[in-house]
Amino acid sequence: MEKKELKLSIDVYNDLSELSPADAQLVTEARKATQFAYAPYSRFRVAAVARLANGKIISGTNQENASFPAGICAERVLLSSIASQFPGIAVEAIAISYKNENGESKHPISPCGICRQSLQEYEQRMKHPIRLILGGQEGKTYIIHEAASLLPLAFTGDELL
Ligand code: THU
Repeated sequence: MEKKELKLSIDVYNDLSELSPADAQLVTEARKATQFAYAPYSRFRVAAVARLANGKIISGTNQENASFPAGICAERVLLSSIASQFPGIAVEAIAISYKNENGESKHPISPCGICRQSLQEYEQRMKHPIRLILGGQEGKTYIIHEAASLLPLAFTGDELL
């Protein structure tokens, strides 16, 4: 028997001023972009803002629907938009923030399971890691250097070949 251990490493920052100016800007943009979420049902506004390899900043927000499963998370709105507007351009980093209209927004949230799957495949498609920068409207910021590290033993298209 062989034991395999998978490690997740997270950089934790207490204050936005400790981040690089470019990363801090992305978090600030994500905090602001939560206003464009359409979340009348959960009242949980999420924004994901990406910096692409060509320097463009693109944002996405969660878009809900009265038929709940039709709603889409901010991360997948963002990736669909990037893939459609900038095909073949790698994503350097994505900042994810939120505003909980029912409570506080003081700690980082991380992408849901379906979004992890989509992020992993985007990295694989572009052959480039996506740095995730996670933070609320205030409080600590987490940096994860590669989105795929959030989805150990991922099911990938390689299995379908
Ligand atoms: N949501 C996101 O947009 N991204 C996540 O990573 C977690 C959840 C959205 C989905 C739904 O509109 C609301 O947050 C509450 O789950």
